[in-house]
Amino acid sequence: MEGAHIVIGAQWGDEGKGKIVDVLASEADAVIRFNGGANAGHTLEIGGTKTVLHLLPVGIVRRGTTNIVGPYVVCDPEVLVTELEIAKASGANVVLDRRAPLVLPIHKQIDAGREQASGAGKIGTTGRGIGPCYEDFTSRRGPTLGDLTDCERFITALAQRGYYAERMAVAAHYGLTPMTVNETVDWAMRFSARIVPHLGDAVQEAAELQQQRLNLLFEGAQGIMLDLVHGGRPYCTSSFCGSGAVAATMGVHSFDRVVGVAKAYVTRVGGGPFPTELTDKTGDLLREKGREFGATTGRPRRCGWLDLAALRYACRVGGVTELVLTKLDILSGLSEIKVCTGYQLDGNTIDPLTTLTADLLSCAAPIYEILPVWNEDLRKYEGFWQLPPPVLRYIRYIEKTLDIPVAGVGVGPEREQMIWK
Ligand code: IMP
Repeated sequence: MEGAHIVIGAQWGDEGKGKIVDVLASEADAVIRFNGGANAGHTLEIGGTKTVLHLLPVGIVRRGTTNIVGPYVVCDPEVLVTELEIAKASGANVVLDRRAPLVLPIHKQIDAGREQASGAGKIGTTGRGIGPCYEDFTSRRGPTLGDLTDCERFITALAQRGYYAERMAVAAHYGLTPMTVNETVDWAMRFSARIVPHLGDAVQEAAELQQQRLNLLFEGAQGIMLDLVHGGRPYCTSSFCGSGAVAATMGVHSFDRVVGVAKAYVTRVGGGPFPTELTDKTGDLLREKGREFGATTGRPRRCGWLDLAALRYACRVGGVTELVLTKLDILSGLSEIKVCTGYQLDGNTIDPLTTLTADLLSCAAPIYEILPVWNEDLRKYEGFWQLPPPVLRYIRYIEKTLDIPVAGVGVGPEREQMIWK
């Protein structure tokens, strides 16, 4: 790779971005997380050992790589210190933006309290306090990583324009007993010594690396269908997940590649509409064979057929210029393979440019195309054009329908099990 590359999820998260970023990171000078928080679960399988990272960029497993966390990443210090240990062991550098918002215990409590009070209408969040923390970021209050440098500064951040008192009132509304100000300060200061040495300016760092013509790899979290604006509200996350989030928060505006990662089928965790969901034996088969259990929460993922109507929309609004298709090996041996090419609403095919709101998706009837199946174990293949003809046809069908090239496919969990075109 050369220049600035972005890897983003083109579905509802869990597309296998961790593995793709890990593979591309071998040629990157810096890997940069720009959105979300510890709601992400980026899984790496290297030499049979599985590592799940939630907050730091996946470049931390590579010696000498610089790993940057931008000012739009909400940071849970408990997760940070655990992952900083991994970075230390592998000899990777870490720079954390001092403006990044800090996820506090009260954020997680409010997240859980709200979900519990919402009953059947709950979002199915990861419970990591992400939504409440981003609310505070937008209200321009709440402590940041930089406030860990000094106890007095941290106390001032909690007192800012009635900040913590208001949050305690929200917690009380849900019948919760949050930490007091003093307890929160004591809790936070426990992490200071390990986090403060890594504090810096992520935006300046990225600009300096670009000035030196070094290669930047931006690692997206969640997926475009979970984007705060373009995802189906309220069944979405609280951050922007497309390429625009890099421009808006990291000050980098021109990209050589925006790689959208999509699974060869679709999964979703949490609530919200899912037009191609399979609640039958095929869905169970995909879940078992694809090991579709949440990397962050362990929840079983809902599984369904590849949805090209949603993928077309996600690529457009998220700025994707090429796709990588993961877990193609999981489709081997199925008796039938379907892909959704569009939706019908009240008997009419909907315009492909229609915004896919949650209301629309919950009433949309998928239009399916049936494609040829294959039985070969794809893990043993190495060259793209040697893949079995029905597999090449599946890939070609996606490219033609979306008018976007597929740059590579994943045929197994390991680093080496990637086939580039
Ligand atoms: P939150 O981001 O924890 O607030 O959760 C909001 C919605 O986004 C829920 O449906 C979560 O399951 C989903 N979500 C958040 N992060 C991820 C992810 O990394 N993968 C898949 N789904 C996610």
